[in-house]
Amino acid sequence: MLVSGRGSNLRNLLDRDFEVVAVATHKPSCGGAEIARERGVPLGEFPQSKFESRDARDADMADFFSQHGAELLVCAGYDRVHDLHRRFTVINVHPSLLPAFGGGMDAVRQALDHGVKVTGATVHLVTADVDAGPILTQEAVPVLDGDTEATLLERIHQAEYRILPEAIHMLESRLAARP
Ligand code: GRF
Repeated sequence: MLVSGRGSNLRNLLDRDFEVVAVATHKPSCGGAEIARERGVPLGEFPQSKFESRDARDADMADFFSQHGAELLVCAGYDRVHDLHRRFTVINVHPSLLPAFGGGMDAVRQALDHGVKVTGATVHLVTADVDAGPILTQEAVPVLDGDTEATLLERIHQAEYRILPEAIHMLESRLAARP
């Protein structure tokens, strides 16, 4: 799993007994890294300052996941573009109904600014195009009168905690079928 935020999706997967074989981050102090340490999940720290280039960082991260036998990579709140999809099946969870409000880290703010009445959460396959890979699962979330970024994000998170496990289960059979 790749994290750089508070790590609540990581916690949710661990609480549901998903086998998270390793966690990588470029922010060793983020909440997700802390959860990995607390729960004894091998943690790889890949701050960009340790690497000469993005490619060098990505190659090291890919080796790290290979060494831990990862079969599927899950990005949840990982805020760096990377090319690990070239070596792994990678999925990402995004806090909007893509293709709306893709491509940035402020999807919830944008939903409020546009005054949409419905937003949601999406899990999609990661490709070279940011937030534009094939969609696996989505859940709509209503925007309520008086919502703030925090209240709306919390409601979206609850949807993420349902659809990310669902997407992983969907992929399990495909991954198992790979030679
Ligand atoms: C989620 O809302 C996800 O959609 C977005 O970043 C957030 C990560 O939350 N990409 P957490 O770190 O799992 O709590």
